[in-house]
Amino acid sequence: MKTKPAIFILKCVSCQSEYNPEKLDYTCPKCGPLLGTLDVLYDHKSISAQIARDSFALNPRGDHWRYLPILPVCNPDLIPGLTVGWTPLYHSGSHAKEWGLGGVWIKDDGRNPTASFKDRASSVAVVKALEKDARVVTAASTGNAASSWSAFTAVAKLPTYIFVPKTAPQAKLAQLLLYGAKVIQVDGTYDEAFDLCCQAAEKWGWYNRSTAINPYLGEGKKTGALEICEQLNWNVPDYVFVSVGDGCILQGTWKGFQDFYALGLIDRLPKLVGVQAEGSAPLVKAWENGATQCEPIVPATVADSISVGVPRDQVKALRAVRESQGRFVSVSDGQILSAMRDLARTVGVFAEPAGATAFAGLRKLVESGVCKEGDRVVAMVTGNGLKDIDGALKAIDAQPMLVQNSLADVEAAIE
Ligand SMILES: Cc1ncc(COP(=O)(O)O)c(C=O)c1O
Ligand SMILES: [Zn+2]
Repeated sequence: MKTKPAIFILKCVSCQSEYNPEKLDYTCPKCGPLLGTLDVLYDHKSISAQIARDSFALNPRGDHWRYLPILPVCNPDLIPGLTVGWTPLYHSGSHAKEWGLGGVWIKDDGRNPTASFKDRASSVAVVKALEKDARVVTAASTGNAASSWSAFTAVAKLPTYIFVPKTAPQAKLAQLLLYGAKVIQVDGTYDEAFDLCCQAAEKWGWYNRSTAINPYLGEGKKTGALEICEQLNWNVPDYVFVSVGDGCILQGTWKGFQDFYALGLIDRLPKLVGVQAEGSAPLVKAWENGATQCEPIVPATVADSISVGVPRDQVKALRAVRESQGRFVSVSDGQILSAMRDLARTVGVFAEPAGATAFAGLRKLVESGVCKEGDRVVAMVTGNGLKDIDGALKAIDAQPMLVQNSLADVEAAIE
């Protein structure tokens, strides 16, 4: 199939200038990379003729490409073969009962091909890179977006340079190297790695999948929200909890609900709760101060994936929470580790620290009375626990029992 003309436009979140997606790849030149992120806007009227609740029920595709008519793909032949999305939405009856809620669902996105939510974005970004004839690609990441990107660009045979902070966990580094990416480990923070990556991309003309500046990532990430609508039989929940670093998953989630609302597929919108770690909470602070921008910080948290001092998608993330009448909330590292144990032991989901942060935020809002009796809530789990074994070990409150090869020894140990 030949590449079709785009069925969407790009619009700056700050000055509202509109751009042709064939002429601009990243951010509004007038407003710059932080304030000039771009919305991807569709003609909902023409799309609504192609999709309806019934057509989804009949759609055999068991991945997020079931939402192709509302994704920014111009050449579907370029869609990679890896199976992304349509991840399980588990109901936790015990939490619903304990908290008196109408329903508590856990969306396990650790079940994606590279074990994180980021595959939703990478799968769309790699199509855009191929459509744009990219020869070399890059990304900066705390680890998950990078390992995800490396898998998709390996399949697409695109040479890939990855920028990660020195502190990226071993498992994520192992993924990157095994997928064949060239890894540039920056002796600095994620925020520094991000800036260096953007400078390199500009200098050598590499296609850049770094978060927020690439407008198509949020479009891939919105499919998590679309799946929640379908999996809950179109009964939109009251709250959706999302772990937040740069804010791209959060804003993408809101975009998904907004697109389905505009298409008439859902009749209400949820409140979004962005959950940050206390040691890395510039968006919480901006929210509490009523600001439209974040003060940069130096982050420190056990949840390495959301250890971000300058949230790159801050404008859209703040807007999403404001428009949804939700909120931002922070949780301590102790609460994150406790949420990891709770998720594993109650729901059977093994989350990395950042993956469990949303659930920690849910518990906090239940305990503070914000989530009320009967509310139906969803918490996203955005990354698998095997991604960060050091993080998992911090959450463990028991030790193995070492025995000799003897039943008597076992008896003594279990007594
Ligand atoms: C597991 C996990 N959860 C949450 C996030 C936060 O996503 P965002 O930076 O889009 O806010 C990340 C980002 O790296 C992640 O890897
Ligand atoms: Zn602008």
